[in-house]
Amino acid sequence: MPRIWKSTFKDHDVTPEQAYLNRRQIMAGAAGLGLGSIAGPAFAAPEGLEPNPLEDITNYNNYYEFGTGKTDPAEHAHALTTEPWSVKIDGMVDRPGDYQFEDILANAQIEERIYRLRCVEAWSMVIPWNGFTLASLLDRVGVQSGARFVAFETVTRPEEMPGLRYPVLDWPYREGLRLDEAMHPLTLLATGIYGKDLPNQNGAPLRLVVPWKYGFKGIKSIVRITLQEEMPFTSWNDANPREYGFYSNVNPQVDHPRWSQATERVIGAGLFGSRRETEMFNGYGEEVADLYAGMDLQKNF
Ligand code: MTE
Repeated sequence: MPRIWKSTFKDHDVTPEQAYLNRRQIMAGAAGLGLGSIAGPAFAAPEGLEPNPLEDITNYNNYYEFGTGKTDPAEHAHALTTEPWSVKIDGMVDRPGDYQFEDILANAQIEERIYRLRCVEAWSMVIPWNGFTLASLLDRVGVQSGARFVAFETVTRPEEMPGLRYPVLDWPYREGLRLDEAMHPLTLLATGIYGKDLPNQNGAPLRLVVPWKYGFKGIKSIVRITLQEEMPFTSWNDANPREYGFYSNVNPQVDHPRWSQATERVIGAGLFGSRRETEMFNGYGEEVADLYAGMDLQKNF
């Protein structure tokens, strides 16, 4: 069993916010769709992983569709309409279709996962996510043999997303994983933070979280998931393949061409912040290193 499920939950890790259920989960239950079972805290954070307050998590964001400034998403993302929401699941699956978000939730086993988010810009924070494994959703739709990668797409709504006016990236924001990465039990589709609905600036209503990779792999406000044979187009890799690899596993030994990845600034740690040493695979090596056995991680960065 991975280390992360073994450790015990400590009283000080439980915040008042965790007493609340996700509003949409309650609504889904009330609507008779069948409430996705909500597991208690199935595991705790590894030793010393103290969640940032909600204020940090919701006011220091990257969501370029709302602007490139760290406070732009907090300022503009409230305009994003997240109800109704549906996710197209297509490509090499047995049951393709446009799935209503409520239907996805109704069948989901919601867990809490406290993960460190390590941005490629060399900062990090600790976020208590609620969500379900991507594997559980992929199992539901039935992945066909021959599928090797999963492609993801963010919604594009120029009238609600002022950042789309600027050609910073080739919109829509797109990301991808190898199928074994997508099926890994640490890979989460997040629906909440601190037991509440996901704030819009964090990627409501559904966003990917892959804790051993740089934060930009965690694509927000997902509207499409495609199973395919070939390695997908990904926005940051397309924008600058020398700086942003397809894998983008957190690796303190592979520097970004313009800065070191050996250490990271801890968001919210005092007036001047503090720095910590960046860990290989963001500290999740015990669980995921096997996925890359035999690969040259300098080349496949
Ligand atoms: N997803 C979309 N659609 N657009 C973005 O600009 N930024 C990425 C990722 N997902 C981004 C995105 C980057 S660079 C990071 S570090 C994380 O979201 C930040 O997530 P957070 O704002 O919830 O901390």
